[in-house]
Amino acid sequence: MTSRFSEIKLGPAVEVFALQKAYIEDAYEKKVNLSIGAYRTNDGKPWVLPVVRKVEKSLAADELQNHEYLPVLGLDAFSQAATKMLLGSDCPMIAQGCAFGIQTISGTGALRVAAEFCSRILHYDTFYYSKPTWENHKLVFINGGFKKACEYTYWNAQTRSVDMEGMLKDLRDAPENSVIILHACAHNPTGCDPTPEQWAQIADVIEEKRLFTIFDSAYQGFATGDLDRDAYAVRMFASRKIEFLCAQSFAKNFGLYNERVGNLVVVMHDTKQLAQVKSQLTLIVRGMYSNPPNHGARIVATVLNNPDLYKEWKGHIVTMSNRIKEMRKCLYERLVQKGTPGCWEHITNQIGMFSYTGLTEKQVECLMNNYHIYMLRSGRINMCGLNEYNLDYVASAIYETVLLYPQNKQDCIC
Ligand SMILES: Cc1ncc(COP(=O)(O)O)c(C=O)c1O
Repeated sequence: MTSRFSEIKLGPAVEVFALQKAYIEDAYEKKVNLSIGAYRTNDGKPWVLPVVRKVEKSLAADELQNHEYLPVLGLDAFSQAATKMLLGSDCPMIAQGCAFGIQTISGTGALRVAAEFCSRILHYDTFYYSKPTWENHKLVFINGGFKKACEYTYWNAQTRSVDMEGMLKDLRDAPENSVIILHACAHNPTGCDPTPEQWAQIADVIEEKRLFTIFDSAYQGFATGDLDRDAYAVRMFASRKIEFLCAQSFAKNFGLYNERVGNLVVVMHDTKQLAQVKSQLTLIVRGMYSNPPNHGARIVATVLNNPDLYKEWKGHIVTMSNRIKEMRKCLYERLVQKGTPGCWEHITNQIGMFSYTGLTEKQVECLMNNYHIYMLRSGRINMCGLNEYNLDYVASAIYETVLLYPQNKQDCIC
């Protein structure tokens, strides 16, 4: 008897999780994991932020806590505080009630709800994502009901910087009501963000061409170490009264990866349609996962709503972002000291968790097969995977690999 499932084809592996598995199964002593986007200490360990540990202990001891369902749109104390963190506590849109948030299943869940809202409720069918982007954008938006996936130019591989002319041209050519996914800060994977002047140009085109923005804010605090500076683009759009959605993740900046804490922020011109928008979001969530989990959101709400804990957490963000900056400097210095062919300034110029190294697929393959150093095929590395114990090993491996498989001269003109 043939099985009902006999016609099912094997789907492609999810690269970052496949690499993570391969790394775990690799018995080589000096193996290095530069693939998955998670913070690591100098000892190569995950870091439970001390403020998170403290709040978890107090929640565990609190007899008033229980495991009742949250409302469909989640914990209000969390969403309100998260929205303030994004837009600024003095944001007039919040005061006027035109901006609000709903709790979601981390950043991915916020994007998925946003996609479904845009496709089913706003009837938009085309979305644009940066080339390159986080590998999941396309899948999330197609699953969310979009019909047409398009790329906009973002990266100039030669100058290793943002190709603003190309980006603006592609946005200008996009049909009205296209949804444009913009990385709010610390662009993944390139580590390059537009300047304030460039953000203004992007906002001009979005307004002129009547495009619709969905910001993806997965790294607030990781770009500069400062929450307010990292929210620049989102706040500038709000101050220009441009309507948008923003998917916020607390995975990275709170180290709450597996607790799935997210917030979908809606910014509108006025409050006339507020009840309608909320009701449609409620139906989308109800039909998708009914209501979000409590634990992580409760931790974040507790921290953001308590000035002392908030201050302590901001200190943790500085610790994380400083360690990343230090690793950038150390890797750069080692590569240059060895005389590694090519230019490597981009490693220190880029910001956020990742570096888009410019290593070719052949070089990446060599680093994995010969040196057990795991990174994405695109050459993206997680800077937090580096530490004082493996830096020399990684730098030597890159040096030897670049000699073995030289880069084309035209690949870089910096
Ligand atoms: C650009 C970007 N957006 C969204 C996410 C979503 O993360 P999460 O669903 O874990 O919050 C990530 C995670 O790596 C990301 O890099």
